Amino acid sequence: MCGIVGYVGGRGATDVLLGGLKRLEYRGYDSAGLALVEGQKLHILKGTGKVRDLEQSVYAQWDAGFRDGARMGIAHTRWATHGSPTAENAHPHTDQTGHLAMVHNGIIENYVALRTQLKAKGHMFASQTDSEVLIHLIGELYKGNLFEAVSAALKHVEGTYGIAVVSANEPDQMVVARKGSPLVIGLGENETIVASDVSAIIAHTRQVIFLDDDDVAVLTAQGADIRNLHNIPVSREVAQVDWDVGAAEKGGFEHFMLKEIFEQPEALENTLRGRLDEAMGTAILSGLSLSPRELAGIRRLVIVACGTSLNAGMVGKYYFEELADLPTEVEQAAEYRYRNPIIQPDDMVIAISQSGETADTLAAVREAKQRGALVVGLCNVVGSTIARETGRGVYLHAGPEIGVASTKAFTCQLAVLLMMALKIGRCRRLSRQRGSEICEEIRQIPALVRSVLKRNDEIIAVAGEYAKVRDFFFLGRGCMYPVALEGALKLKEISYIHAEGYHAAELKHGPIALLDDQVPVMALMNDLAGREKMVSNVQECRARNAPVVGVITEGDDSAAQHVNGVIHVPRCSRLTAPIPTVVALQLFAYHVARIRGCPIDQPRNLAKSVTVE
Ligand code: G6P
Repeated sequence: MCGIVGYVGGRGATDVLLGGLKRLEYRGYDSAGLALVEGQKLHILKGTGKVRDLEQSVYAQWDAGFRDGARMGIAHTRWATHGSPTAENAHPHTDQTGHLAMVHNGIIENYVALRTQLKAKGHMFASQTDSEVLIHLIGELYKGNLFEAVSAALKHVEGTYGIAVVSANEPDQMVVARKGSPLVIGLGENETIVASDVSAIIAHTRQVIFLDDDDVAVLTAQGADIRNLHNIPVSREVAQVDWDVGAAEKGGFEHFMLKEIFEQPEALENTLRGRLDEAMGTAILSGLSLSPRELAGIRRLVIVACGTSLNAGMVGKYYFEELADLPTEVEQAAEYRYRNPIIQPDDMVIAISQSGETADTLAAVREAKQRGALVVGLCNVVGSTIARETGRGVYLHAGPEIGVASTKAFTCQLAVLLMMALKIGRCRRLSRQRGSEICEEIRQIPALVRSVLKRNDEIIAVAGEYAKVRDFFFLGRGCMYPVALEGALKLKEISYIHAEGYHAAELKHGPIALLDDQVPVMALMNDLAGREKMVSNVQECRARNAPVVGVITEGDDSAAQHVNGVIHVPRCSRLTAPIPTVVALQLFAYHVARIRGCPIDQPRNLAKSVTVE
């Protein structure tokens, strides 16, 4: 996720900006840059790579007098969303006059339309980013007052932003604004700092203001004048933060994993943003670059992935078969090229990878391409190897995932797979009306996840009862079967409890021999179609004295009678149910691991990105 730092005050801005960017490095980024305003001049340095590379360029190219002299500047770490990670796409971006500069976090959804209008007025663009379009729009409207130009421009913008804008003509003040992307103002003595999160601020001051959506503020060394888009002053509370730096990076959460679990409603909103077309009952996934006719012509899907992404692919199989009538095979990427994978002319291969760098998935992509398959990527990291080599696909927009155990990437993968199945289904036999209903169901997903997160305390209590066990079984049916696999994977990854996910019906074919009063079972009983059969399977477990925790739909009290412990998930459609369910299992795994004192963000023997076979 992009990081922003801005400074205006009585000291040299350069060191504050570079120090702030270093504090934001944990968020993940691919390029960095900064702009200084000094004596009615704007100076910009930016490039791909690390903040220390930027720092070296600053020291090599800007002399000490200038570095220390500039009292105002903005800086940015970019995590690519629109356009690959290149120096041109790095921030800050400037307007057409070169006098205004801006850093931006978020997504301008209507940037294509805005760019077309601006091009018609003679604007030339140097990057592929949505952000550059916004600063050009601000430049177009600039008549000598930066606040007015920014407010006017933002009225034309659809999407999300946290921005900091400077003008060489107004060297004592910067304008910042937020909608959907966080922005915090730090109030120091004779200096004001703005950043995406407090970790970049607390070295300088602990007095902060968290901006709200639609706030626009003018920052000077003396403080912040905050207004809304209509120039009406708004008052915002000044808060005192007492987090240390580590806690600040994690947004006050104990671990990145917990932060990322709680970030899911927002991450999912970003994944869905601008992609649902209720009127036509379909999804807009332009990165697929396939016409309705081409999508209708697909005869078979093959999904290749590893780990959590593989489990997402298994849920995807249910979506593609149900909504698009497409035979779908899910393959462990590591196996793919060591067999004779059959590719027929109308097959499409979908490679799912959060990082876009997993060696086995990449090898499967290359194998499939060599055999002539149409390959699409479903990645989170923009510009990653799999995204580049597939050349077409859908980005998750989940933001960087730092905890080794994948959480928000998984739920965003499911949301994308559901939208892909909807889109392909609509090109085949799915009716517009059914498509619109599904759009409506998909729209509910962030709210469903919020409602599970509210039950954190209930899940902590259940986790407390089972934190000492050595083994755990997770059972499900239908698309809850891969969710059971993912729940077991989460638990074993971070708590080191031996956990196995099984199809509830397969239990009788072997593993039931292992059940006794020391081996608990997590039964996913909230798939209404399979509910009665799950109740029978739960009874089989109870008959072997195994304690059973039931994941049940809110209000399904009769299911609760059959189990020893309960985790509730909200009532929702069958298609969306895997998402809130897995969030409950992520929280369960997290709290068990926490109670056991495990190193949750870096579990032993595991790597975030596995780039070897
Ligand atoms: C590693 C990670 C997992 C991840 C898997 C696949 O094992 O620890 O969390 O699911 O790689 O990674 P990918 O980036 O391809 O989704």
